[in-house]
Amino acid sequence: MNLLPAHRKRSRDPGDNREMIDARRRVHQSKLYQPLADRISRELGKQVRDEASLLDLGCGEGYYSGELLRQLAGVRLHGVDISRPAIRLAARACPDGEFAVASSFDVPLADASVDVALSVFAPTAEAELRRLVAPLGCFLRVTPGPLHLWELRQALYARPRPHPAPTTRLAGFEDADQQSLQFEMQLQGQQLQDVITMTPYAYGGRREHKQQLAGLQSMRLQADFVLSFHRRLPA
Ligand SMILES: C[S@@+](CC[C@H](N)C(=O)[O-])C[C@H]1O[C@@H](n2cnc3c(N)ncnc32)[C@H](O)[C@@H]1O
Repeated sequence: MNLLPAHRKRSRDPGDNREMIDARRRVHQSKLYQPLADRISRELGKQVRDEASLLDLGCGEGYYSGELLRQLAGVRLHGVDISRPAIRLAARACPDGEFAVASSFDVPLADASVDVALSVFAPTAEAELRRLVAPLGCFLRVTPGPLHLWELRQALYARPRPHPAPTTRLAGFEDADQQSLQFEMQLQGQQLQDVITMTPYAYGGRREHKQQLAGLQSMRLQADFVLSFHRRLPA
């Protein structure tokens, strides 16, 4: 479903474009980020019961949505993303989920109708989270840890800086419990280009550094994530 009103669009085709989405889909299909998907499903599995309502904000082409549906029996899964091509792929890949082209800043779901909201590297709006997440429900935000893709950033930038620590504060929620997850990824051939294409690094770094990277057959990259679990305060 496309539930993004035309007057709310800031550009003709908002969100990630087809090239970024295809690159991310190949990366996810090759299971490079599987340890993150497993950790998310395992931790959210502790929070949900049958029929729980899960919302994947900025769900992209539905990789984490699909893993949640596969690993957590009986949940109802909704995904929103502002990118039309992303939602088309998500809906096809996860026929048991419900997907809509919509903004995380204006989600077409009722107040307090979400037991668990998830955002993996995607923008969210605090007021919408307070409106949507039911009392004692949970919001999981996944952000890059300090050394995420560090070797890539070293190769692209003269003085790369570690990612800052995400805040534990979110009004209307308890202070977050945070977990970190780190693992190594061995990238081969096209995978390196795909990781660059699906990240903001596609737009940064010097051209000659990118050409050097394009010549590499393989590269070891550190994956580093922070998972922040925010519990919604009682009504
Ligand atoms: C870095 S990608 C992450 C996608 C997915 N969560 C994943 O990790 O595979 C960020 C996603 O947020 C989407 N996005 C950007 N702004 C958005 C908004 N205002 N509302 C909903 N989605 C948005 C983009 O289209 C993109 O698919």
